Amino acid sequence: MTITIQTVDDYHAMSEQAAEYFYDAIKENPDIHIGLATGGTPSGMYEALIQKIQDSALPLGAIQTFNLDEYIGLSQDDPNSYYTFMKDTLFAPLKLSRNQTYVPDGNTSDHEMECRRYEALIDEHGIDLQLLGVGENGHIGFNEPGTPFDSVTHVIELNDTTREANARYFNSPDEVPTHAITMGIRSILKAKKIVLLASGTNKAEAISALFRDTITEDWPITALKEHPDVTVIVDKAAAGQIPDEK
Ligand code: PGA
Repeated sequence: MTITIQTVDDYHAMSEQAAEYFYDAIKENPDIHIGLATGGTPSGMYEALIQKIQDSALPLGAIQTFNLDEYIGLSQDDPNSYYTFMKDTLFAPLKLSRNQTYVPDGNTSDHEMECRRYEALIDEHGIDLQLLGVGENGHIGFNEPGTPFDSVTHVIELNDTTREANARYFNSPDEVPTHAITMGIRSILKAKKIVLLASGTNKAEAISALFRDTITEDWPITALKEHPDVTVIVDKAAAGQIPDEK
């Protein structure tokens, strides 16, 4: 296991540092395959990355992106689908085409088949660098506590805490979908490199789990301890419960 931790002052610094990491990775490998995440955590990093790419006119024609997860039951053009989030936040500003951006389809008639298709896609293309956030309960992607570490892309029932955390984006909490398709833990660990971002005191317990001895399915984030190349970029608030960082 190799986990490198970079602790920075705040959300802004985390976003800038992560954007620099991804910018350098794309510059070094113009046909890089990047795994992407949605949510509040990576938004600032996406904004900073877009700025850097536009300022330098870095060519992106050969990159490919693969998103971690998608709600079940929302069409791609639903304002709350992760596809729409990615299109508005990153794909459109960077002028990435449909055939270089992959997001699981949560609106098919056969979700199991979609899971198999998506996992095969990941295997066929291979992910060089995976971006992750983390849930307050330690989930990565939508792999809620208890998800087997050998899981591949699958349908998951979202925990109440996750639905409550995500209700801020919906008109009412009842509208938050109950299920999602997510890359599994094993799918995530297939990436050559992983970068995890976290900001705020509400993520501190989950981050500290990464620095305790136990590897447990109760804290999905601890699966990363089995990966050879993980970089964790956190702000001081999220680092607040790491044993030696107190
Ligand atoms: P957030 O979500 O970035 O909106 O906090 C992270 C997650 O649930 O994985």
